[in-house]
Amino acid sequence: MKNTTIRSVYDSQDDILKSIITLYCPDGFECDMTYGNGSFWRNIPRPQYCFDISPQKPEAVQACSMQLPFSAGSLNNCVFDPPFLTYIKNGRDHQGGGVAMSARYGGYYSYDELEDHYRHTISEAWRVLKDNGFFVFKCQDIIHNHRMHCTHYNTIMMAEIEGFTLRDLFVLVAKNRMPSPQKGTQRHARIWHSYFLVFQKKKSRRSTK
Ligand SMILES: C[S@@+](CC[C@H](N)C(=O)[O-])C[C@H]1O[C@@H](n2cnc3c(N)ncnc32)[C@H](O)[C@@H]1O
Repeated sequence: MKNTTIRSVYDSQDDILKSIITLYCPDGFECDMTYGNGSFWRNIPRPQYCFDISPQKPEAVQACSMQLPFSAGSLNNCVFDPPFLTYIKNGRDHQGGGVAMSARYGGYYSYDELEDHYRHTISEAWRVLKDNGFFVFKCQDIIHNHRMHCTHYNTIMMAEIEGFTLRDLFVLVAKNRMPSPQKGTQRHARIWHSYFLVFQKKKSRRSTK
């Protein structure tokens, strides 16, 4: 990335990750909770600890983001890029039920299940991070059955209830999208962006939990 002002919107995830490193994680990322195929780290130094519930690459260790193999207060930062699709049969085990995105990234049977995973991972991030540590959360809003699930807003609310402070919000604009499966009259804007939320653990902010 050129030496210019860091912006809140990019069309490259590399630019967003590099911006977060510059602003918040000068020594790089320490832990990736949801490694997937490792595409975050093609042009950026890979974190020391890489986990996934069902590792696709040998460098990832099998672990659940809700129960990481760390003692409390041991990490400076961690990044979480969970599945964001819902109402997908067989989504979690990468079978995908014929849906290409779900086969690649996994998914949830219901939005409640997605929120349970996000909420428990937020609590786990709080546990494993040092005070003032950073938690980077990638998420995307979804529309299902004409209902808008504003996931980035819901995630911010859950994280703030946990005690995290939102320090930054980056928008990643997609360069392209797979063709929409929708037929008939369009009723909502096609979602063409996702978020990188940067939270900081501020112990003093936490209510009595
Ligand atoms: C959107 S993909 C991550 C993509 C990744 N950032 C990359 O660059 O390739 C979501 C990943 O979360 C993993 N996952 C789903 N549930 C998980 C859990 N409870 N704990 C850890 N990983 C999980 C999936 O196996 C999948 O690899």
